[in-house]
Amino acid sequence: MSTARRSIIEPFKIKVVEPLPLRTSAQREAILAEAGYNLFAVHAADVTFDFLTDSGTTAMSAAQWGAMFTADESYAGSRSFYRFEEVVRRITGYSHVIPTHQGRAAEHLLFSLHCERGQLVPSNNHFDTTRANLEQLGVQAIDLVCAEGKDPTLEHPFKGNVDVPRLEAFLREHRGKVPFVMTTITNNTGGGQPVSLANLRAVSEVCRRERVPFLLDACRFAENSWFIKVREDGQGDRTPREIAREIFDLADGCLVSAKKDGLVNIGGFIALREGAWVAGLRSRLILTEGFPTYGGLAARDLEALAVGLDEVLEPTYLAYREAVTRYVANGLQRLGVPTMRPPGGHAVYLDARAMLPHIPADQFPAQALAIELYRAEGVRSCEIGSVMFGKRPDGSFQPSAMELVRLAIPRRVYTQAHMDYVLEGLGEIAERRSQLRGVRIVEEPAFLRHFTARFAPL
Ligand code: F0G
Repeated sequence: MSTARRSIIEPFKIKVVEPLPLRTSAQREAILAEAGYNLFAVHAADVTFDFLTDSGTTAMSAAQWGAMFTADESYAGSRSFYRFEEVVRRITGYSHVIPTHQGRAAEHLLFSLHCERGQLVPSNNHFDTTRANLEQLGVQAIDLVCAEGKDPTLEHPFKGNVDVPRLEAFLREHRGKVPFVMTTITNNTGGGQPVSLANLRAVSEVCRRERVPFLLDACRFAENSWFIKVREDGQGDRTPREIAREIFDLADGCLVSAKKDGLVNIGGFIALREGAWVAGLRSRLILTEGFPTYGGLAARDLEALAVGLDEVLEPTYLAYREAVTRYVANGLQRLGVPTMRPPGGHAVYLDARAMLPHIPADQFPAQALAIELYRAEGVRSCEIGSVMFGKRPDGSFQPSAMELVRLAIPRRVYTQAHMDYVLEGLGEIAERRSQLRGVRIVEEPAFLRHFTARFAPL
């Protein structure tokens, strides 16, 4: 039987279920006012479809839950650590594996030991916690994504690519001031867009030539590997695992939030090829996270992660995963809702600037759209626009390059019928888009304002 023209199905059956919270739009109106129109302040029990993040929201497999029962919770030298370490070594080829409780703990640990005030760290796009962790050390986080990555409507297979000529010029200009180069796979901030193997090879070569270490922010490494398999010439016959291994071979190490492609609810790690930084990292880890064989996690978390890292590389899983975002993005396109093209791996990004051209950047069109999605449909999304990125270090306003609303899809959680329902709701919002109004900020913190700012409708 040929499967070429058949539907791509959820490659699992469901063993445990949880009721979907249902609220009326009048109830949600009151909830929004109480939350200061910030969706991070809304209780999850009041959210019907939670697309705030794909991070830590995965449904774990029976095999992962089963492995958790076998965990060895010893303080030092836990069997579960060695099992986790073996899996990370096998997938990445890196010898040194340092667990942390999540991605930003790995960032803080490594940056605080290996960056100094006045230095610069380039990447395709830094994720917000990566940027904030660098900036609070007085280090400049520089985004060098390719030109294609800045155009939300352009169809291009690898919009997460680094602009390599610019990187090369940058490293020459700032010789001695760049502690390492990073690349985020997939490029979350730029739309969940993948980076090609050819581009990673080129970045790796430039870093080697300039003798600057190359680190991957690799939390969606499996999704990036899948896109390389299906989009890059000559890669179609390789397994995602082989491609992932080549990606890791090109770098010197990685920082990973395992809450994404680790298929777990908590966890992270640093993995490095060379040992030079390891003793320092482990000493600091003991101060901040815990002993090096658990690093802020319970051993049962390490067990679940060890299983998840292998499950995520299964081709049937990755084919399904990519099909979900493609299904939603193509559905939206048919409804006339502009989205970032092509769809990324973990999320669909609504282009609020194109959808709401009557709302100027300083009235936060993407935040306005996110609020309406919740008010009308009970959908929680995340603004990735001028609320998140529109503030210069001196506090002044600077419009973000794009005004996006991210619908991040939790892994293995929602079905195709759920997605059809959400598409219907979005279609209705699109029909009355001209009635939507902007918002203003009434209260905000110094850093990472999108988490806690309060807004008022205009
Ligand atoms: N790097 C990238 C590319 C990320 O997407 C994230 C988290 C982190 C680092 C930090 O990891 O949350 O475990 O501390 N992204 C989540 C998101 C929060 O919703 O995109 P963390």
